[in-house]
This record gives sequence, structure tokens and C-alpha cells, in this order.
Amino acid sequence: MEIKSNPLTLGAAHTLLPQPCVLVIFGAAGDLSWRKLLPAVYNLNVDGVLPSNFAVVGFGLGAEGDPDEWIRQRAKDGTTRFSRRPPDENHWSNFARSLFYVNGSFNDARAYAQLKARLESIDQQFGIPGSRVFYLAVPPNVVEMSVDHLKSAGMVGSSGESRSFTRVIVEKPIGRDLESARKVIADVGKAFAENQTYRIDHYLGKETVQNLLVIRFANSIFEPLWNKNHIDHVQITVAEEEGLTHRDPKTHEITGSRIGYYEGVGALRDMVQNHILQVLCVTAMEPPWSLSADVVRDAKIGVLRCLRPIAKDDVKTSAVRAQYISGDVNGEDVPGFRHEVREFYTSRKQPAPSESSTETFVAMRVFIDNWRWADVPFYIRTGKRLPKRASEVAIQFKDVPHILFNAHADIPLEPTVLALRVQPEEGLSLRIASKLPGPKVRIYPVKLEFNYSASYSETTPEAYERLLLDVMAGDATLFMRRDAVEAAWQFVMPVLESWEHSRDRFLPEYRAGTWGPLEADKLIEADGRQWRTL
Ligand code: BG6
Repeated sequence: MEIKSNPLTLGAAHTLLPQPCVLVIFGAAGDLSWRKLLPAVYNLNVDGVLPSNFAVVGFGLGAEGDPDEWIRQRAKDGTTRFSRRPPDENHWSNFARSLFYVNGSFNDARAYAQLKARLESIDQQFGIPGSRVFYLAVPPNVVEMSVDHLKSAGMVGSSGESRSFTRVIVEKPIGRDLESARKVIADVGKAFAENQTYRIDHYLGKETVQNLLVIRFANSIFEPLWNKNHIDHVQITVAEEEGLTHRDPKTHEITGSRIGYYEGVGALRDMVQNHILQVLCVTAMEPPWSLSADVVRDAKIGVLRCLRPIAKDDVKTSAVRAQYISGDVNGEDVPGFRHEVREFYTSRKQPAPSESSTETFVAMRVFIDNWRWADVPFYIRTGKRLPKRASEVAIQFKDVPHILFNAHADIPLEPTVLALRVQPEEGLSLRIASKLPGPKVRIYPVKLEFNYSASYSETTPEAYERLLLDVMAGDATLFMRRDAVEAAWQFVMPVLESWEHSRDRFLPEYRAGTWGPLEADKLIEADGRQWRTL
């Protein structure tokens, strides 16, 4: 099969080359850097796609012994555990030579002066013209401080018109509500222009999410059907098997916990406001007239602006939240969320919140009030401690008329469904009705399947790989513009506020290892539909 490489595939990164720069990771001792960022840079190195003049500098506290050696070891450990490729000795030594660490506190001006001096000497060593990508992998309350210090230390240059550039990557969470999101955006804006700012949502870097646009706009058969005349409804599911505490499978000792971040945040803020709404935008957007960053982002914001606001009185019937209690996930007994919260605070000798009402599961019915989607429900659901990791976008087409093969009301034909699997096994399937061989007309649903792993020999790059390259290339297509962040918050605010002010002390519960609470089933069944079995 000949693979067509079209310079107009999503984003301009194919035409814009990653430019020489230093990637400076704030919070490089943290989880994100260990699990995702450093392994991503290693894979880019192996693939030979990094700029020829390139180095990584971690910044923050936490290094032990020689900071450069420490970050190299940490990167190797993260790559061994989490990378799609284990470290290969030849590549590794070459990669490790370009990894450095500056140990210092985010609120210490002297640490920034040291960072600056170190960057200048690395520029000399690697022939880098002073260009920087600052990745703020830090908690939201550290963002303003970091940006202010960068500015006063004279480390914020131009967006890239001259020989060198300065860009900043801002990680989620961008605020915890509309107001605080605006503040984070303004804080970053004090030093960086919008065209220097890359707000990352790693779901947009996932292959299948990008493939959604290719499926829609590079095939002639889908787009004519992609509207209210032919689509009954859409389901977007992001199911996770993991809870908020990681344990050693043998000793059951806690090896990591996200409770400190997640408690008081919950699934609506953690997954829906960003990842799921972004995937919904890509699913529902109008065809952009070009693939340049702002045209694609204009098309996406068109969806957010048309989301039907959920009135406070309708929250109960449009949205369900729930929390997992203890249960069994794949044969392993796991504790409930409240237990994990108590355990976390007790281990830190801090008082635990009395009874957490943080949701670990959300299901919603959403409408997009525009000509294409009028009255087509989009059902979304996401949760922790579900039976398996499985994420997909499923487009369910309308039933064929109730004549011929679909004439019997008691044995309706299975609907046609196009399911795009985001993870774990990226691919898509189209379920259609087919005749079972034999003299009688017996109809059976069959699946036309496409699997990335079966079709392409290469392992699929991680989302962060693609997104880091895009920033180095100056391509903002897959990053969130400030208007999109604000519009997404605006949409979820009534739900957040209604839940926060609710007097219900106990939210619905679901047993770990099940597909969520009964209330979520009722939400979709009220419309005569059902969640898909994944
Ligand atoms: C993160 C959330 O943004 O995305 C996590 O904070 C979640 O809670 C993660 O687990 C899911 O990402 P992925 O790529 O593993 O589906």
C-alpha cells in the first residue's frame, strides 16, 4: 500500500520544521515529566525528528546528588517504565548528553539567574540561538510566580519573528472555574503574547483524535451523513481502570497518589471541561476551510459556542455524578475513593476532609444547537475505576425504515455504528447488518475493522511527542486558544455550581470495577437508548 503523505494533513507541523531550541521543563522532578515528557523526548530523539541543535533542561527542586546525573537517571527510569520503546543503550547515551537540571525554587530570583546562565552556556555548547520552550508542568498556583520571575530575569524574548523565539506551554488544569481560568490566562499573558502561548490538551495529540478529521474530510462517504438527518446520537466515552492511588501489585504498598490534586477537583473539571469537550469539538466541527491553526480553532470554537447551556434546574436530568466505592477491578480488591482520601491525608498527618463529595464519574447529555446537530444528543461519560481502559467516539446512525428487513418491531435490526477507538487499541470499526450464509434471510451485525497495530508496523507515537514537536515548529493548531478555554468553562459552570450548592451530602456511588451508577443508565434510557458495551 502506498502511503500518501500530504502536506495538508492536520496541523502545519509537516511543513514547519522544529527549530533549534532548549526545552526547559518547570517541575521536571514531577510525575508528568517522569511518565510522559522525558519518555516523549527520548522517542523523538530515537526517531531523529528533534531539531539538530537541541537540549532539555529540567528546573525545580528535588534533585539529589549531581543534578544532571539525577535527571538522567530519572529520565531513564521513566522511559524504562512508561515509554513505548525501552531505552536503547546507543540512543540513550546520546540523548542523556543533552539532558540537564537546575536545582532551585520557583520563587527564588537567584535560581532564575542560575537557570539563565546555564541556558546561555548550553546555547554555546549546542549551537542554539537563544530559543526557548518553557514547559510549565507545575501546579496552577505556581504559574504566575514562574512567569513573573522569567520576565524579570529577562528570559522572555519574542514569539519567533527574529532568529530566536520564546514560547511557553501551559498544562492543565487551567483554573478551577471560569474566573480562575481567566486569571491564569491573564497571568501568563503578562509576559507571553497569545502567539507564544501553547495551552496543551494532550487528547488533541492522540492519533485517533486527529484521525477523526481525516476520516471525516478525506473520505467521501462519511461527511454527507455527518448530520442530524442521518445520525441518531453520538457517545463519547473515556473509561479508566485506574483509581487515584497506585499500589505495588505484590506488596499493595502505595507507590503514588493523585489524591492531593484530584480531591475537590473531580471528573467534570479533570476530564470533561477539557479533554472530552475538545474531542466533541473535533467530532462535531464544521469543515475548516484550511488547516491553518486559527481556521481549525475557529471551527472548533463554533461548536463550543453552540453548546446548549444547561440551566440550573436541568442539571439533575442532564448530568450525573458519582463516586466509586470499594470493589474488584480485574480480580484485584481495591478501596473506595473516600478511603483513599483518608489514607492520603492520614499518611501526611493532615486532617482529612470529613466526607469527600468529589465525583470520580460523570455522565451527561449535551446538545449542539446549530443547523447540523439540532436535537442530536451527544452522551458523554468518563470515570475512574471502571472495568477497563477504553475510550471511543461512537456515531450511531438512524435506524433503517421499519419495512423489509426491519419490519418486526420485536426484533429490530442493530443500528449502524461507526466507532473510533481512541485507546487502548487505536482504530475504528463500522458495524453493519449482513446476511448470514444459508437459504433463509437471517441478518447478523458484522464489524468492518481497522486496527492501527495491524495496518502500520510502527508503534503509535504518544500524544506528547506530537505536541512537543508542534511547539518547536511554532504550530498552534492542536493547542487551545484562550477563547476555547473560556467557552468550555462557561459551559460547565452551571453544572459545577449546582453540584457545589447541592444539599445532597451523598452523591450516587458505583462499585469499583463496574460501568458507573444506575443513574447514568437512567439518563440515557430516559431517551430510549443505551450505553454501548465496551
Ligand atoms: C489527565 C487527567 O489529564 O488525563 C487524568 O488529569 C487522566 O486524571 C488522564 O487519567 C488520562 O489521559 P490518558 O492519555 O491516559 O487517557
